Amino acid sequence: MVTKAIGEVCGECGGRTYVIERRGDRAHARVCTCSARCELCEGRGYAYEVREESFSAKVGPKRYEVLVPCVCQRRAKRLEHFNEVGLPGVMAHASFEGYRAFNEAQDRARNLAMHFAHHYDKAGVNKGFILSGPVGTGKTHLLAATLKHLVLEVGLEARYVEISLLYATIRRGFQEGKSGGEIIGPLSEVEVLAIDEMGKGRGSQFEMETLDELIARRYNAARTTLFATNYSLEPERRGTRAAAPSGYRSTEDTKSAAREMELLRERVGERIYSRLCEMCNFVEFPKETTPDQRRMRQELEPRPGPPPGGMRSGR
Ligand SMILES: Nc1ncnc2c1ncn2[C@@H]1O[C@H](COP(=O)(O)OP(=O)(O)O)[C@@H](O)[C@H]1O
Ligand SMILES: [Mg+2]
Ligand SMILES: [Zn+2]
Ligand SMILES: [Zn+2]
Repeated sequence: MVTKAIGEVCGECGGRTYVIERRGDRAHARVCTCSARCELCEGRGYAYEVREESFSAKVGPKRYEVLVPCVCQRRAKRLEHFNEVGLPGVMAHASFEGYRAFNEAQDRARNLAMHFAHHYDKAGVNKGFILSGPVGTGKTHLLAATLKHLVLEVGLEARYVEISLLYATIRRGFQEGKSGGEIIGPLSEVEVLAIDEMGKGRGSQFEMETLDELIARRYNAARTTLFATNYSLEPERRGTRAAAPSGYRSTEDTKSAAREMELLRERVGERIYSRLCEMCNFVEFPKETTPDQRRMRQELEPRPGPPPGGMRSGR
């Protein structure tokens, strides 16, 4: 049990009352030790709230106390929801504050994600976003920071899925004889869904049709979906290209052309792509000027062996 002086901010959670850590391959949230015993309700879970109301003009306004769930109960629910999001363990630390922009596009992406998270309108329609760029540029990082804020600070329910896991779920459902609709039911209804690595892998026809149905359902219900992809969004920048296929049932020829072009539109097909355009704001990181953080960190880490400048054995 950690004790702290009144007014002192907890060093473990920075006053947020919860901490997020890596537990196995998942990011896991728990109540901070500083808040294990709620000081507001002393562990009862309920608190009194003073209300004022006029029941009759003669008597005038009257004050009375009602029992309401304490904030610690609300926090417990949000932590529970966070642990159902499915964020990867490596994203436990991901935050907006910890995101560095190396160019204008990354700056725009961070601002877009932050604005989206901080101004989310629970009662209204919220346009999502799609981040496109090379590996290691923080796309998953920004998705994770956004979902964290939405679930823990706004109180939404959200899910994160990597596309190959989504395909695996669809495949399993298919083998169990479920319909596409049954398989994607929970994902089509969750308030905010983030689909990572969009365009990766080669989904079977059933997998692609089910993905199509998932996007269509969320689109029709005006639910918010976020995406990240390594594939490019803008064909016009890439000069001449083969005619776009009309759907995901493209021939082998157009498929190999698409692989060469690395266009998301050609990876997911026209139907899904046009819905994404309506559902989302786009940001694309330029390939040439956006550094891969995974590689940069490796290069910065001190290695055992001769000091920098000295001879290095080839490896
Ligand atoms: N611009 C950035 N600022 C801070 N950390 C970053 C940035 N880009 C990447 N990272 C970190 O590098 C690692 C890889 O980033 P990730 O979000 O997985 O990249 P991507 O999804 O674009 O391939 C993560 O640990 C992430 O937190
Ligand atoms: Mg990623
Ligand atoms: Zn704390
Ligand atoms: Zn309490």
